[in-house]
Amino acid sequence: IYGPKRRNSRGVNLNIRSHYYPLMDKMGGFMDKQYPTKPLLAFDVADDSANTHSVTSPFDRRQTVGSVQWTSKEQAAKALDAAWEAFPRWDATPVAERAAILRRLGDLMEEHMAELMTLCSREGGKLLTDGVDEIKEAVDFCRYYAMRAEESFGEPIELPGPTGESNRLMMGGKGVFAAISPWNFPVAIFCGQIVAAAVAGNTVLAKPAEQTSIVAHRVIELLYEAGMPRDVVQLLPGDGPTVGSVLTSDPRITGVVFTGGTDTAQIINRALAARDNAPLPTLIAETGGMNAMIVDSTALPEQVVVDVIQSAFQSAGQRCSALRVLYLQDDVADRVIEILKGAMSELRIGDPRDLGTDVGPVIDEDARKGLMAHIEKLKGENRLVAETPMSAEHTQHGTFVPPVAFTIDSIDALTREQFGPVLHIVRFKARELDKVINDINGRGYGLTFGVHSRNESFAAEIAQKIRVGNVYINRNIIGAVVGVQPFGGQGLSGTGPKAGGPHYLQRFVTEKTITNNT
Ligand code: NAD
Ligand code: ALA
Repeated sequence: IYGPKRRNSRGVNLNIRSHYYPLMDKMGGFMDKQYPTKPLLAFDVADDSANTHSVTSPFDRRQTVGSVQWTSKEQAAKALDAAWEAFPRWDATPVAERAAILRRLGDLMEEHMAELMTLCSREGGKLLTDGVDEIKEAVDFCRYYAMRAEESFGEPIELPGPTGESNRLMMGGKGVFAAISPWNFPVAIFCGQIVAAAVAGNTVLAKPAEQTSIVAHRVIELLYEAGMPRDVVQLLPGDGPTVGSVLTSDPRITGVVFTGGTDTAQIINRALAARDNAPLPTLIAETGGMNAMIVDSTALPEQVVVDVIQSAFQSAGQRCSALRVLYLQDDVADRVIEILKGAMSELRIGDPRDLGTDVGPVIDEDARKGLMAHIEKLKGENRLVAETPMSAEHTQHGTFVPPVAFTIDSIDALTREQFGPVLHIVRFKARELDKVINDINGRGYGLTFGVHSRNESFAAEIAQKIRVGNVYINRNIIGAVVGVQPFGGQGLSGTGPKAGGPHYLQRFVTEKTITNNT
């Protein structure tokens, strides 16, 4: 399947849809542009070179993208004062006005697609195709949440008045939200958190990931251009624990919307709980996964492999939704593995801006080292099934990890989420199915899950028994679409809200019942 037919004579991936080409023409101007950035706060921020960090590209650390001045603790505290003061005014702003800003931001991000996707590649190491998908997702969040806010909070809900009194249910913002986001969706998740909190009437202190603060800065500039007041949404780039400790320890923070590692969510949860005399906060946490797929003997091996390659290796495996553990029923395992080996040998590792590349770099040296240590350990145990060849020409200046597949005995062999292109394969016999499901559920994570089977009742039964947020049947397990596949997990994978779903905004509002006996 993954053979030469996919590429033209210059090695260009022919699966790339033609609508990327006009965008690529516009990218040239942004390939070398340098971005010196500072926090975007309600007040002016003085230059502080001692607190400014240079940003380089993961695929070639000799190339600079710009610099990021990190937010000091004092600036974070002052930003919180401004957000606190702005809240009543913003909360009283009509929902239609707030929604209109989101729609304008969506339009502006579309207009600036070429620049944003270039930055996603240069700063975050994303393939151009992943960058386009990411920005489209951010645009979808803006339009979807704008629509949902108008539908849900535009007017108070009139309730029955059986005693002659009138009853109305009003929805308003909760206060100041901290929005803390990861590097792997530096536009979509970053933007989705902020616009959801803001359109619901909250003011927002946005803390982007250290690794991708420049593209975040560009999005906030566009948000201001769209009409968002500067004291309603502020950008606080910086070190997680430093900025995080100011945000999560202050009693004026009424909610945190967080996406990132499970360990970090637990630190934030503890910090919020330790505040004295603070209101009980809202914590919306979307965290890691140990995502599995079960393939039974009726599945089509060729289709399984296409979906496994996408699920495990697209975005270099750096998606929370990515496939980590593939359970293959014995009767079909040899055939799937044979095709998988062929497919993996055809994948190309390299510069994410090159349309021939299938797998770009991982985000940084820490990530590379952690993944390579795991890979070396499993190789030492003679568990290697397949490895995509990696050339030194591409990798000597970047942080690359080759797609690899290993056999393991069960999901319990994995002590932590391996956030990269590493697939683990477990063979099972039909009679062991209940144990497989118990093992997956017992691991405690619950984000995505896939099943490949032509037996519909088998697939439906597994989908019902598995405890995760998103189940995919006979397809890949990544790329949830806003408003179509609401996304979010349970257990160690998060507190449950579904981003891009009809109930998400409810988590950001407080409800007030007004009974009037006049
Ligand atoms: P991370 O937890 O290291 O960092 C996430 C954010 O938290 C960053 O902005 C970081 O600066 C901040 N942070 C770190 N320490 C903090 C502290 N003490 N207080 C406050 N903030 C702090 O995660 P990451 O490496 O950026 O992202 C990868 C992880 O995110 C993976 O585990 C992945 O599964 C998860 N993720 C989950 C989803 C989802 O929807 N469930 C989506 C994307 C990524
Ligand atoms: N929404 C992203 C996906 O589904 C995380 O891959």
